[in-house]
Amino acid sequence: MSDRLASRSAIVTGAASGIGAASAALFAAEGARVLAVDLPGKFKGAPPAGVTAFEIDISGADAPARTIAAAVDAFGGLDILFNNAGIASNALAQDMTDDAFDRTIEVNLRAVFRLSRAAIPHLVKSPAGRIINTASVMAEGTDYGLSAYCAAKAGVAGLTRTLALELGKYGITANYLMPGAIRTGMTGPLWEARPDVADIWAKKSALRRLGEPVDLARAALFLASEDGGFVTGQGLAVDGGLTLRV
Ligand SMILES: NC(=O)c1ccc[n+]([C@@H]2O[C@H](COP(=O)([O-])OP(=O)(O)OC[C@H]3O[C@@H](n4cnc5c(N)ncnc54)[C@H](O)[C@@H]3O)[C@@H](O)[C@H]2O)c1
Repeated sequence: MSDRLASRSAIVTGAASGIGAASAALFAAEGARVLAVDLPGKFKGAPPAGVTAFEIDISGADAPARTIAAAVDAFGGLDILFNNAGIASNALAQDMTDDAFDRTIEVNLRAVFRLSRAAIPHLVKSPAGRIINTASVMAEGTDYGLSAYCAAKAGVAGLTRTLALELGKYGITANYLMPGAIRTGMTGPLWEARPDVADIWAKKSALRRLGEPVDLARAALFLASEDGGFVTGQGLAVDGGLTLRV
């Protein structure tokens, strides 16, 4: 490791599992102090060195203020906000309930906006403020049953571009990741039950494999570190070439 995030403090949401857990661990291994955020009861075992667990539902009314305050109180400031927590929802539009649609938007989009807004007063004080949001290849593509999910993830893309534009004058970058088919808590149980489905996704990608959480963590690290310092307002597909073919 090369201490690429030395003296930085970070929040990573959805950090008890999958992409968020891998990112919190990698950020900490690179020298950051990390507030790992997830739902109550989701963290298992002791967090890695440099990682502090914070349990909250990020969609709650007071969650953004409480989450940002927890990081600022613990670390004395905030440099990196990685909005990664997300939920899947799957129902054809004709069967999608208002509740399912609203919950998907609340967690996957509105909470990203509200956490970003609450973080801005602290990020402006950072020498290298960063917002990284996890969207999806489904921000640009779609599949059956994904109306709410795609609407939320396309919203994350538009939100992130606008944050990049508005916050650039403070030296803050804002970018979003577009994971392809990644083996995490969201997908793992289905793929274990249906290895044939996992195989289809693996073969669809140019690299002929599923993604692992660390593939995304490394991309997030690039955007969080000085290496990505002149990249802003961009969506980075981390999908092994899944979306190359039309
Ligand atoms: N796995 C994939 O193939 C894939 C593909 C594209 C995008 N993504 C996105 O990647 C992100 C991370 O997901 P993952 O694949 O690592 O799944 P995951 O289920 O392993 O991790 C998501 C984490 O978010 C947490 N979370 C959910 N709702 C929350 C809430 N209201 N408050 C706090 N925490 C909450 C969950 O408890 C979970 O630990 C999500 O935004 C997801 O939409 C995943």
